[in-house]
Amino acid sequence: MNKKKAFITGITGQDGSYLAEILLEKDYEVYGMVRRSSTFNRSRIDHLQGELELVYGDLGDSSVLNQLMRTIRPDEVYNLGAQSQVHISFDVPEYTADVVGTGVLRLLDAIREGDLHCRFYQASSSEMFGKVVEVPQRETTPFYPRSPYGVAKVYGYWITRNYRESYGMHATNGILFNHESPRRGENFVTRKITLGVGQILRGETDKLRLGNLDAKRDWGYARDYMEGAWRMLQQEEPDDYVLATNETHSVRECLEVAFGHAGLDWQQYVEVDERYIRPAEVDELIGDYSKAKAQLGWEPTVRFEELIRMMVDADR
Ligand code: NAP
Ligand code: GDD
Repeated sequence: MNKKKAFITGITGQDGSYLAEILLEKDYEVYGMVRRSSTFNRSRIDHLQGELELVYGDLGDSSVLNQLMRTIRPDEVYNLGAQSQVHISFDVPEYTADVVGTGVLRLLDAIREGDLHCRFYQASSSEMFGKVVEVPQRETTPFYPRSPYGVAKVYGYWITRNYRESYGMHATNGILFNHESPRRGENFVTRKITLGVGQILRGETDKLRLGNLDAKRDWGYARDYMEGAWRMLQQEEPDDYVLATNETHSVRECLEVAFGHAGLDWQQYVEVDERYIRPAEVDELIGDYSKAKAQLGWEPTVRFEELIRMMVDADR
């Protein structure tokens, strides 16, 4: 029997690397789209070398997307590629809108134009809930994005639903709350903290500069969330699902767990630096994953404290 083919944008990122591992374990043929960069940025997928088919492309380039969809003809497409840093989206709002918003349209259209009957996963985000109008947030909670990134993700969410409803495409939104791991990008707050702990322990620095310590997030483990993304595309019908832990913790609590795990008092090292305060903030997120639990049999396996300790252990 022919192997199933999966196509992943954002394969060099945190989530892409976990999803590629999961799909290879399930015996998929995995294609990953990569961008040219001046230095090699494939450290997260180095261990999979030889098992993946990497192809060049960009969510800003529809001709390449069209050509890749026509030639590869994947069974499943996972759109994880994005300028995913919320604070930076205020610095590069137009670029963020193009890649995070219009990029979704380009990929959906390449699938439609190529007359593919594949399943499509869109990496939607809890950042769309922003200034939340309901607690906890679930699939039916209205959006109120607070950043150019969040606004672009709302477009991506709706164009995915629109192509599902207009063209009968098997197109699904995973509305994922924050998820972290030792592979998390270095400028997201959990990783910045666990890297900082490692540097302090090694005597490389004695300061960690952060922004808003009161912000609260629902933090889970990235590998769990990519298992959930795969399960979404195995459903007969396309739909939208929240993945979360249904717990919320502040940046301050993250500091307590991370520094505490290393036997340090965070208050001696952390300084608040205005440069990391955002023009508009998302104060508190907490997700209700009961639909994913009921329909996908999905549940988070790693909780907040274990997650942060795992990241400190990797960075120390
Ligand atoms: P990440 O580590 O920042 O990875 C982003 C990936 O997108 C990288 O592979 C990057 O490639 C690629 N990319 C950036 N610009 C691109 C472009 N113009 N064309 C094609 N690819 C491009 O992000 P992540 O944490 O794995 O998140 C994966 C997806 O889930 C993103 O869409 C993110 O917005 C979304 N999401 C993440 C979370 C979370 O908490 N992690 C929660 C909800 C939703 P380079 O390596 O070349 O830069
Ligand atoms: N990055 C960062 N750096 N955040 C800080 C810092 C700092 O020095 N100090 C405090 N924070 C606060 C931010 O203001 C925010 O409220 C919170 O920590 C989390 O910030 P990030 O880790 O950057 O994540 P995010 O919640 O903005 O966005 C992530 O999660 C989204 C899902 O809700 C990203 O992965 C997005 O791509 C994703 O969609």
